[in-house]
Amino acid sequence: MTAKPNIAVIGTGGTIAGKGEAVVNTAAYLCSVLGIDEILESIPDAAALANLRAEQLLQTGSENFGNEHLLAIGKRVAQLLAQPDIDGVVITHGTDTIEETAYFLHLTLKSTKPVVVVGAMRPPSAMSSDASLNLYDALAVAAHPSSHGNGTLVVANSEIHTARDVMKGNSFKLEAFRSPYGPLGYVIEGRPHFYRRPSRAHTVETPWSIDTLVALPKVDIVYGYGALGSNVVDFIGSGAHGLIYAGTGNGNVAAHLLEPLRRLAERGVLIVRASRTGNGIVLRNGSQPDDEYGWLTVDDQNPLKARLLLTLALTQHSDARALQQVFARY
Ligand code: SIN
Repeated sequence: MTAKPNIAVIGTGGTIAGKGEAVVNTAAYLCSVLGIDEILESIPDAAALANLRAEQLLQTGSENFGNEHLLAIGKRVAQLLAQPDIDGVVITHGTDTIEETAYFLHLTLKSTKPVVVVGAMRPPSAMSSDASLNLYDALAVAAHPSSHGNGTLVVANSEIHTARDVMKGNSFKLEAFRSPYGPLGYVIEGRPHFYRRPSRAHTVETPWSIDTLVALPKVDIVYGYGALGSNVVDFIGSGAHGLIYAGTGNGNVAAHLLEPLRRLAERGVLIVRASRTGNGIVLRNGSQPDDEYGWLTVDDQNPLKARLLLTLALTQHSDARALQQVFARY
């Protein structure tokens, strides 16, 4: 008989750790109240998949997660992955910002061992909760050899997504997660089925190591619309090293905002044009003369992913040309 893999399970809170007063409370409940041990007790069948070692790292809603939380999670995951007797890590997490933590780990962990981030749209106490199945599926994916080398994964609703692409696209449905190019695979009855692999560089192929990251530069996002005041752009941009401008459509910028954005760029704030559609490519020098203004553009990264990528890139480069290339590589 082959030995079962050892999987570390890190609890951080969220709906998967939530509790409602009644089974009908699928949307109104307290988040982040169940400990990771309690959550795991509800899926005794997981013991057949792996030896589990649980620990509670945080206990809070993921809407509270700042850069310091990402660093703390990343550093702990890295310590666990470095242990020869740990084969993979599962992180239970609120779904609201799961795509951000997962992408940060995808870019900064230096291991090919599976890391799976998982949450739930309904607390364990609710009717048709997805908590137990999502966690069981996440453990199955982390425990399986076919998951190695895929970077950080997000498992939800029987689908396996790459952290690079996954986005939360619904506020309450179980089918809340999507990747623009589709999931990497499915997980059914304790077994992952992969059909594709992430094609962009991640984990061991990136220059960023969670072990050496300390403080992260400030990058903010501004959501573009025609009535947005130039004072808002000035205010948000002036305290930041970089500003992701989530423009309309193909990263379009309203005429009255060109000047404030150009002024910020002249003062050394890196302006990155992205799209508030959350999908598709922003064409460099397409709707704006980016070369002339000294602006950057995303490739297909949505504003949230672009914020994390620029944050990491700024720890390494200050040259605009090198920073632009980062969007094409990761
Ligand atoms: C959170 O993100 O922590 C709350 C919502 C959720 O987990 O679905």
